[in-house]
Amino acid sequence: MNAPDRSPFTAHPLTPKLGARIEGLPLSEEMSDATFDALYAAFLRYQVLLFPSQDVPPGRQVALARRFGEVQVHVMNQYHADGYPELYRLSNLDEHGRPNGKHPDRGTLIWHTDGSWQRRTGHATIIYGEVMPETGGETHFCDMYGAYERLDDDWKKRIETMRAVHNLDFSRTRRHGEEPMTEAQKRAAPPVDHPVVRTHPETRRRCLYLGDHAESVVGMPYDDGRALIDDLNARAVHADLTYEHHWTAGELILWDNRCVMHRATPYDPATQKRVIRRCTVIGDEPS
Ligand SMILES: [Fe+2]
Repeated sequence: MNAPDRSPFTAHPLTPKLGARIEGLPLSEEMSDATFDALYAAFLRYQVLLFPSQDVPPGRQVALARRFGEVQVHVMNQYHADGYPELYRLSNLDEHGRPNGKHPDRGTLIWHTDGSWQRRTGHATIIYGEVMPETGGETHFCDMYGAYERLDDDWKKRIETMRAVHNLDFSRTRRHGEEPMTEAQKRAAPPVDHPVVRTHPETRRRCLYLGDHAESVVGMPYDDGRALIDDLNARAVHADLTYEHHWTAGELILWDNRCVMHRATPYDPATQKRVIRRCTVIGDEPS
């Protein structure tokens, strides 16, 4: 008789609805297929996975992302890090390692889902915290399965076949006043439309799919669509569907963009230091 299978790690839930802390799985080591399969099952179940503080060099982070699928090379190429175009570094440090007073991407402060502005949207995102502030700069996650389930039947019927246009130039440049996208960057990221309610391709559960890159609603006057998107984005967030993470340097978090929205909280970029490395895996076209 075979010995019973033992999980290669333990998953400790962070909230009743979403998130788990993974213990006993050093990320510096190559993962076997069986271990990765167990990790992927935890990813589908918990939506957000937190790994305790450890050294994860850039190459290990990219290698982990590749286990999930095709890794995005972001169109905003000024953020590429460490010779790895797959990594997107957000830092407020100057060349001497001092806070420069400028927040590197204020668009991250609003609830969103990574890569919703692409035809094939974000699957997993993996963030490694290199330097973390003492106050602020948290990351919050919201369960979009639960957000959809909380809507009443009238809302569910109203949005059942609705599609929204997602546009990086809207969320980043025009809405948040970040440095303008170049013409080449805009050409590489034209607006795309996606269903407002998507079915997760693996769990087959329905979830709300909007966030801050959603600009307008197909077939609806612009201002009406804006109001509806703002309303739904606000309705999506409930305290008991949310996990709020206060970072310790060296932690790594990975999450499922197909069923989770996230945001960062503000910090003082003139006095606090914050450096993260982000890697996003490209998924499929929502349906
Ligand atoms: Fe993000």
